[in-house]
Amino acid sequence: MPGQATDTAPPCLPTFYDDLVFPPPPPGRPYVAINMVSTVDGRTTLSREGKPVAERIGSPVDRTLMKRLRTHFDAVARGAETVRQSPYYPWAEPRETRQPLAVVFTRSGRLPVEASFFTGAPRPPLVVAPRLSGDRLKALRQAGAEVWETEDDLPAVLRRLGEEKAVRRLLLEGGPHLNRAFLAAGAVDELFLTLAPRLAGSGHNRRDAAGATTDTRKAGGNMLLNLSLVEGEPFWPPVELQLISVFRVESELFLRYRLSDPKAAR
Ligand SMILES: NC(=O)c1ccc[n+]([C@@H]2O[C@H](COP(=O)([O-])OP(=O)(O)OC[C@H]3O[C@@H](n4cnc5c(N)ncnc54)[C@H](OP(=O)(O)O)[C@@H]3O)[C@@H](O)[C@H]2O)c1
Repeated sequence: MPGQATDTAPPCLPTFYDDLVFPPPPPGRPYVAINMVSTVDGRTTLSREGKPVAERIGSPVDRTLMKRLRTHFDAVARGAETVRQSPYYPWAEPRETRQPLAVVFTRSGRLPVEASFFTGAPRPPLVVAPRLSGDRLKALRQAGAEVWETEDDLPAVLRRLGEEKAVRRLLLEGGPHLNRAFLAAGAVDELFLTLAPRLAGSGHNRRDAAGATTDTRKAGGNMLLNLSLVEGEPFWPPVELQLISVFRVESELFLRYRLSDPKAAR
């Protein structure tokens, strides 16, 4: 049943992401792909009465393919809010394969050091942050993480990942705010998007009986209403994508796009 929170592997796993071919990395950075799942109306998070809901958007097939996709990448990056809400290591399947380096981007350094993202990691996760307080830095290092204290300079971090960690391909698994930062830096080449057969609504713009619209975020509402794939300032012009492949499993679609011009996102 769609959206059911179970990690049981589906009996017959599709193989369409087993043998993917990627272009070589562009000069100075790894080849970067985003992987996300959204509802048909473009929502990548679910909430109820203004509070985030832990229910998964995609099916067990989507979650299994997500792990399969990771086998093609040297590193899997996530924003700190995503790690705070889902604090597990991004394992690739099968588990015998070399596991990707987990990279988390944070400014606050506020991360769940007691969670399996750190305690059950097959290799030390990498935390990328600007200068952190001594306590946060110590806690992260004690949790086994490597910490890169850097300026907020994504191109420099990506270059360093290539040079020091031999990362040729990086999978970005959200969330929507970090997706935007990567796109704005011209550092996204592809998008793997699962379209789950569900509708959730955004909750952001509400029109009252008199026709007035309220942006509930500006009105002090909860920022974690149903987010889209990319959050933050809108892009203009919109970023153009080319469809590379489409697969269907029951009512769920597995889409792969390439950005026409990675440097065009403004
Ligand atoms: N449907 C999907 O496929 C999918 C995938 C991933 C996540 N999600 C959902 O998305 C939600 C979280 O997404 P989110 O957009 O709120 O947060 P996010 O992108 O996961 O994380 C944002 C945080 O990343 C850190 N950061 C460091 N550098 C940054 C930069 N240059 N730009 C932006 N952030 C930077 C900051 O951490 P600090 O706050 O520590 O300073 C920032 O608050 C969760 O509900 C999660 O479940 C859905």
